[in-house]
Parts: sequence; structure tokens; C-alpha cells
Amino acid sequence: MQISLKPCKDVTTVNTDCLILITDAALSSDLAKTVDAACGGAISQLINRGDFKAKIAETLYLPTVSGLKARRLLVIGAGDSASLSDSNFDKIIQASIATPAAADCKDVSYLLDHISINDRKPTWAYQRISQLLVSSSYRYTATVSKPKPPLSIRRVTLQGANTEANRQVIQVGSSIGKGINTACELGDLPGNICTPEYIASEARSLGRKFESVTVNVLDEKKMKQLGMGALLSVSAGSDQGARLIVMEYNGGKKGTRPHVLVGKGVTFDTGGISLKPGAKMDEMKYDMCGAASVVGTMSAIADMDLKLNVIGIVAAAENMPSGGATKPGDVVTSMSGQTIEILNTDAEGRLVLCDALTYAGRFKPASVIDIATLTGACVVALGKHASAVYSNEDSFAQELLVQGQLAQDRAWHMPLWDDYQNQLDSNFADMANIGGPEAGSVTAACFLSRFTKDYRWAHLDIAGAAWLGGANKGATGRPVSLLCHYLMSKVGS
Ligand code: BES
Ligand code: MN
Ligand code: ZN
Repeated sequence: MQISLKPCKDVTTVNTDCLILITDAALSSDLAKTVDAACGGAISQLINRGDFKAKIAETLYLPTVSGLKARRLLVIGAGDSASLSDSNFDKIIQASIATPAAADCKDVSYLLDHISINDRKPTWAYQRISQLLVSSSYRYTATVSKPKPPLSIRRVTLQGANTEANRQVIQVGSSIGKGINTACELGDLPGNICTPEYIASEARSLGRKFESVTVNVLDEKKMKQLGMGALLSVSAGSDQGARLIVMEYNGGKKGTRPHVLVGKGVTFDTGGISLKPGAKMDEMKYDMCGAASVVGTMSAIADMDLKLNVIGIVAAAENMPSGGATKPGDVVTSMSGQTIEILNTDAEGRLVLCDALTYAGRFKPASVIDIATLTGACVVALGKHASAVYSNEDSFAQELLVQGQLAQDRAWHMPLWDDYQNQLDSNFADMANIGGPEAGSVTAACFLSRFTKDYRWAHLDIAGAAWLGGANKGATGRPVSLLCHYLMSKVGS
């Protein structure tokens, strides 16, 4: 999709398949008045008749219009306040895509310069719309004979000043959109295709695509040498070998400390010997969405040429029951030297992560964020709307909340108090891998905190946010947008 800028001199001469105008019912902007006058008062007549109330994201579609060079006009309601909230702007843009796409429009043109968004710089809207347009072009096609046709919209013109700043945010928004699509594709692929080695091969192709990205994949032999007994205990029951995938992006000054992302990449989670019930077990193909968000974010920041050093680590394994599988009661030794009594083989995410987090320490990181579909308890607590954020520094958690809001990819701060730690006590090892029925998302974070004491660390439990169930079943690409915004905020600091 090609997104370009064009300063709008005369709206009546904009040559496009579909012109998109956002307005309130009073047509209070000059632009809305001009469009209305040019098409003979068609919009105001429909408003006066009550056909269009200009409620947030309500659409009024005029498939034929006279008085405009544009072949179609789509009017979208902006409600009645002078300035939009960021989430309402999102709803409006989402609503603007379906109608021209259904009419097979190849080319659309947005009028945006009269829109203001609460607390946001004008460039925010350009970045946001670019991200949404690109991410809405995602289609899952890999394993369907007759996939949904691609989005018809190929060219988008934003009627606005062609400035360096505007061009740059369009590039950034598009890069994030592409990163989201990469994450969605990895998430949606079934477990028989998206194996640990498949994720490794995707990472390697990222390394080939971008000179700034170097990829190193550790196999089980190497992990054994490093003492990654926790990670390897998860893949023990599987025919698929585990992989530790390390992607180094060198966009910053040589020698500056990197920010590290660590993703849970359980390509299928049966629960292992602590087998999950059958209902909806297919959804456990999404248990690598943390890893997918790391790959998606690495590709986005490389694509936008971010001036920062970032390392993406993926702990990839498949959790299966078999004669070789780890059993409840087994004790394993993690790379950190701490021993773990595995009371439930279904609490495997923390086991793959703890060794990857120990490994992350070798990069002397400026910060480390792990991202994981870690607990069903997180879904109970927050549903699909927010990722849970835990951190060993409250100020870090706050930063992520702010960036999540900016990114329209929100997180919520959860407690990591010492009071919860003794739920992990074990008589036979340094800790157990489960903390009982209470506060399951918190005790999972407590477990990870025992491996992250040496650096500024945050944990995102994305079990609710990473995919949607039901009729719209599919990966959401979250939290790529949040991670990109966080990393962008670190440039120059
Ligand atoms: N991958 C699951 C978490 C999960 C469950 C994410 C449902 C999304 C939806 C994780 O590996 C898991 O099984 N966690 C267990 C932990 C428990 C055994 C302490 C859980 O949440 O039930
Ligand atoms: Mn599990
Ligand atoms: Zn899992």
C-alpha cells in the first residue's frame, strides 16, 4: 500500500475513487461546508432529514456525487465535541476502510487537516492512520484454498502538508503496521507449520532482509551446554527441538547498551503431562504470540531504521506429553543455577522464559521486557482489552502504560509485591513452578522476577490481548505497537 501526502488546495478537484470527510452534524469546519456546498447541499439535507446524525464512526456513503471530481464520497461522523479522543479517532478510521473496500476502490483520499485529537500532536493522526491502513490489509492465506480477496485499496492520499515530519510518521506508522501483520501471520499459522525451527527460519530471513539485523539460533545441544535445564524440560516431550533465537538489531551507536525483548514462543501448548482439557485446545497454537510480537517488532524497527540498539530473543519450544516428557514432581536446574520443582507441566511459559531471561543478562541491557501468553488468570483479570504489566521498577511500568495509551495498545499495572512470593515455596527445590489458585498471573510474574534481578525489567502477560476467539478468531498483533512506541521513546536517551 502506498500512502502519500498532498496539500489540499481545492477539495472539489481531488481526483480519487473515494473522498473521505470526517465531520460533526453542524458541519462546523470550513472544509465540511465547502464539500457540502460543492455537492449541492447533499450532506446538510441528509442531516436535516435525520438520515445522518454524525455520531462517532457513523457513515454516510454517497456512491455518486456531483460537484466533486471524486467519484464517491464517504462522510464519517465525528460526534459533537470539537476535539476527538484518540480511541474515537481509531473507530472513525476503522469505519472508513470497509465501505470503499466493499466498492472495490483502489484509491482513496482522506481529508484530515481540520481534525484535532485530544492531547495528541497533529502528526499522531498521520502515524495512526498509516498503521491502521497497513494492518487492515492483513489476510491469512497460507492454508486456505480460496482466501479472502486482498484489500482493494492500494493508494491512499492524505490531504495534508508534504513535510518531512509528516512523511516520517507515515513511514513509522506503516512499519508498525507491517510488523503487526508479521506477528499476526506467525500467530495464525497452525502448530504443524509454525514450529520452533519455523520461527527460527523467519528470524533468519529477517537477518537477510535487513543488514542491520544479525541472527543467531541456538539448538538444544548448545542450550544444554549453557545449562538451560528449565527451557529444555519443556521441549523434552516433543519431537520438535527447542530453539533459542537471538536477533540483534544495531541501529544505535556502537557500544550503547541495548534494550532487550524476550518472547515466549511455545508453538503449541498441550499442557504436557498435566494435559489441558480438549475444548478450545486449538487456541494454544497462539502460545507463541509473545515470540511473534518480538519478531514483528524487530522487523518494524529495522524497517523504520530506528536509531537504537535492540536485541530480540525468542524462547521457542513445543509442550507435548510423551515417554520423554517432564513429569510433575521432576526437579530441573535453570541456567541461573536455581532449581525448580515442576508441579504442573502446563506452567511451561515461565520455564522457557527464565532461561532466556538469564541469557539476556549477558548483553548488559538498558532494559528487558518479556512478552508472554503466560496465564489464563490474566484473561480472567483483564480480558482482551489490556496486557498486564509487572516490573521491578514502578517507573518502568508507568512508562509502558503511557506508551500503550499512545500506541492504542494498552497495558495495566499489576502488583509484584513480596507478599506473593512465598506461594512459590517448595520442599524439594529452590522454588515451585506454580503458586496455587490465587493470583495466578501475579505468581507467574513473581517466578520470573527471581531471574531478572540484575536489570531494569518488565513483564507483559498478553494472554488476553494476543488473539481473539469466536467468529473473528485470529491473532491481534499485540503488543507490537506498544513495544515499537516504547523503543521509539528510548531513542536519544
Ligand atoms: N499458555 C497458557 C496460558 C493461557 C491459557 C493463555 C489460556 C491464554 C489462554 C499457559 O502455559 C498455562 O497453561 N498456564 C496455566 C498455569 C497454571 C498451570 C499455573 C494456566 O493459566 O492455567
Ligand atoms: Mn501451559
Ligand atoms: Zn503456555
